[in-house]
Amino acid sequence: MPSECLVVLTRHLPSEVQKRMEKHWDLILVEGGKYSLIETLERNPGTRALISFLSDPIHREVLDRCPLLQIVANYAVGYNNIDVETALERKIWVTHTPDVLTKATADHTMALMLAVSRRIVEGDRFVRSGKFSGWASDLMLGRELSGSVLGVIGMGRIGEAVSRRASAFGMRVVYHSRNRKPELERKFGYVFRTLPELLRESDVISLHLPYSKDLHHLIDADEFSLMKPDAILLNVARGPLVNEALLARMLAGKRIAGAGLDVYEEEPRVHPDLLLLDNVVLAPHTGSATRTARTRMAEMVEESVTRALSGERPGNLIPQWRRLGPPEANV
Ligand code: GLV
Ligand code: GLV
Repeated sequence: MPSECLVVLTRHLPSEVQKRMEKHWDLILVEGGKYSLIETLERNPGTRALISFLSDPIHREVLDRCPLLQIVANYAVGYNNIDVETALERKIWVTHTPDVLTKATADHTMALMLAVSRRIVEGDRFVRSGKFSGWASDLMLGRELSGSVLGVIGMGRIGEAVSRRASAFGMRVVYHSRNRKPELERKFGYVFRTLPELLRESDVISLHLPYSKDLHHLIDADEFSLMKPDAILLNVARGPLVNEALLARMLAGKRIAGAGLDVYEEEPRVHPDLLLLDNVVLAPHTGSATRTARTRMAEMVEESVTRALSGERPGNLIPQWRRLGPPEANV
């Protein structure tokens, strides 16, 4: 296999896709090997493609090790783990996996919303611990979604898919987003709000926006202070959007009613106080974890890398790249 085709994969992929990649490329898997990512790249200076995951920081120091790199294909829709500026400067393609995980992530959001509002996980622990002694009219009362207001922060693909599901449950949808979505307002009746208005009005607040440094602790003391005491906060986006230590205090003090989290500020670490609370449901960053989505994501990565290695402009470029031209820029 010519060294032009060196592809470094940081973690394993669904096996049928990875097997196909191994057939076509000289594929080096970092996970489970002797060497770190940096060491692997140092040992393989001919690396042309890097397949990364959201937990791999792809900073300048990493890119510096790959003088021939043509593409970083991130196996995630979010790509805040990548130093995009440096990649753009060096004309390295950066691709991600939008769309194919939208439904899975929206389902997961609904699962958390239902689990928190109907205390499903707390109930499971209650039954398993032998405390269930019979039906009672006031046992584990929760919130009814129908008639509640869902506040979606970030009305992109996933925010919209969650809104559609929430509407089917009888929820009213308000949203805050960088760009207004007049078509969704007209078609589905979603109502645009400023962030403070949304926080004051919503019964369930759900985050669906990508992370960037200017959004660090988007939900902090001021934002919590506007929320209703019976509000539920959901985060399936990125941990650092929320001040996690403060969230733990808000939940412990019943300043808000509950939370459902799929992401954490310092993954895989979870704030220890959250682990002690009954009114938060904690998922291990599994928003896109369906067999369908994960296989499609792997196929997208395969497609993008194949195109880049054959000198074509790959699909699924991140928006910063899509805005750049001409298409020959990287070939
Ligand atoms: C998951 O968090 C993703 O960005 O795909
Ligand atoms: C509305 O659809 C409702 O069921 O409350």
